[in-house]
Amino acid sequence: MPATSLDTIVSLCKRRGFVFPSSSVYGGLGSTWDYGPLGVELKNNVKRAWWRSVVHEREDMEGLDAAILMNRLVWKYSGHEATFSDPMTDCRACKARPRADHVFAAQKGRDPKGLPEINAAIEAKEMACPKCGSKDLTPARPFNLMFKTSVGPVDLGDESGLVYMRPETAQGIFVNFGNVLDTMRRKLPFGIAQVGKAFRNEITPGNFTFRTREFEQMEIEYFVRPGEDEAAHEMWIAERKNWYGKLGMRAENLRVREQDMHELAHYAKRCVDLEYRFPMGWSELEGIANRTDFDLKAHSRSAENPDAVGELKYFDQEQKKHLVPYVIEPSAGADRATLAFLCDAYEDALVKEPSAEDSAKLRELVESFARSAGRREGMDAEVKQRLVSTAESIAAGLPATLPRLIGLMEDSDAASIEVMKKVRGVGEKIAEENTRTVLHLHPRLAPLTVAVFPLKRNDARLVEMARGLKRDLQRAGLRAVYDDTGAIGKLYRRQDEIGTPWCITVDFQSLEDQSVTVRDRDSMQQERLRAPELAAALSQRLI
Ligand code: GAP
Repeated sequence: MPATSLDTIVSLCKRRGFVFPSSSVYGGLGSTWDYGPLGVELKNNVKRAWWRSVVHEREDMEGLDAAILMNRLVWKYSGHEATFSDPMTDCRACKARPRADHVFAAQKGRDPKGLPEINAAIEAKEMACPKCGSKDLTPARPFNLMFKTSVGPVDLGDESGLVYMRPETAQGIFVNFGNVLDTMRRKLPFGIAQVGKAFRNEITPGNFTFRTREFEQMEIEYFVRPGEDEAAHEMWIAERKNWYGKLGMRAENLRVREQDMHELAHYAKRCVDLEYRFPMGWSELEGIANRTDFDLKAHSRSAENPDAVGELKYFDQEQKKHLVPYVIEPSAGADRATLAFLCDAYEDALVKEPSAEDSAKLRELVESFARSAGRREGMDAEVKQRLVSTAESIAAGLPATLPRLIGLMEDSDAASIEVMKKVRGVGEKIAEENTRTVLHLHPRLAPLTVAVFPLKRNDARLVEMARGLKRDLQRAGLRAVYDDTGAIGKLYRRQDEIGTPWCITVDFQSLEDQSVTVRDRDSMQQERLRAPELAAALSQRLI
């Protein structure tokens, strides 16, 4: 059973060292997260797989790592100073601060034409606070999403040292277009790829690492002759969709969505989103935009831009003239991709049937939980309905539904109902004995590739051979760990939960013939392979 709620993923991430709330020793800082020992490996693997696919495996791409802090003029001429903002209104009654364009669209059934139309609707009391229903709303104001800081030892308070934390990595690529073109002697079409941090003072961050104020982007700017842009756009939509598929993302959880005209950013002629079916619903994973020649022209010296030192253009040998290339931009989030791969890989599975007695006991408790949830007063009607129907269907389907009970036991709304304590008391033990949590991550993404165990940790010969094997695998470039802190079954479970594709057990036969047991995470099948050939065999499976 895949993860049905984000809480399940958050809980696994905290429990197993993927992601921790940031600054937790001081009570945290809302919507900021730190990647732990396994999370950093997973995210690095996502970024590595992306780089390999879009830079190393292609003939028409170069890489770049531009600075986060840039001349403020970059953001003036890119249009971000003037337009990278959301219109916000304040509710005078309940102090909520909703996005005014969203309220307008939801309540009037169409998108507003601009700030004046939104404010006219607020003035005419045609818009109401989505939280409390009051029509006492302040005029909407643009709220710029760029974080400011200042350079230099003295802040004179006059904005002379003002710089922004970049809100997208893309501008670092545009302003380096000429440098890459000249030094790498490229011809159109060619692209530049970059991975790096971006910062946005998001008004509504949330859904774990899905929307945060500090995040990483994996962006490509692909330069083409004007007129060749639409075909290049289609090529990148197909390429990027395939990339997620090749790394194991399930086709039914990935879709392509065309952005409406009103959604388009100020620079885009067309934009297509790749969306993933996250537990909270279909949401953007990556945007693939046609940015035309907007950015290269914006950063070129002209009557509109007297500050630029030159022009960002290309001499076309075939046409014997200068032209400004069009740009296709596949822009992905490294954190969102990591979260999507985690959600997609997650499974709670039944590995053996609990006894009839245990199932009956649990069924009774879950039914009693459903009744309590149904009687609960003051609970949001939708949440109540969800808890009751989930509990009823779990109770009716036990023992097959035991993996779904794990999700219910981790549901924060369910925890607020007293009977859940009893369900957990009995359920956790039965679930531990009969189910397993597995991350079916693609072997190239898994934080650890292989774990090596000695059958007995108090036998020096087994320990020595297992440790030696771990070192050999590591030397061969595989991420390997040694573990002897539990019985083999328990160690398998621990590795399943973090997505390690292969576990190796060194036993007494290994001492005689150098063969070891290799256990596959997904099929749970075991095979004997020779230890000296293991690194080559597993490396082959990683390709
Ligand atoms: N250069 C184009 C650009 O920045 P975007 O759609 O605003 O376009 C691209 O961002 C991708 O960056 C998104 O598809 C998403 O994966 C990621 N992203 C954007 N804002 C984010 C946030 N607040 N938190 C996490 N990821 C974010």
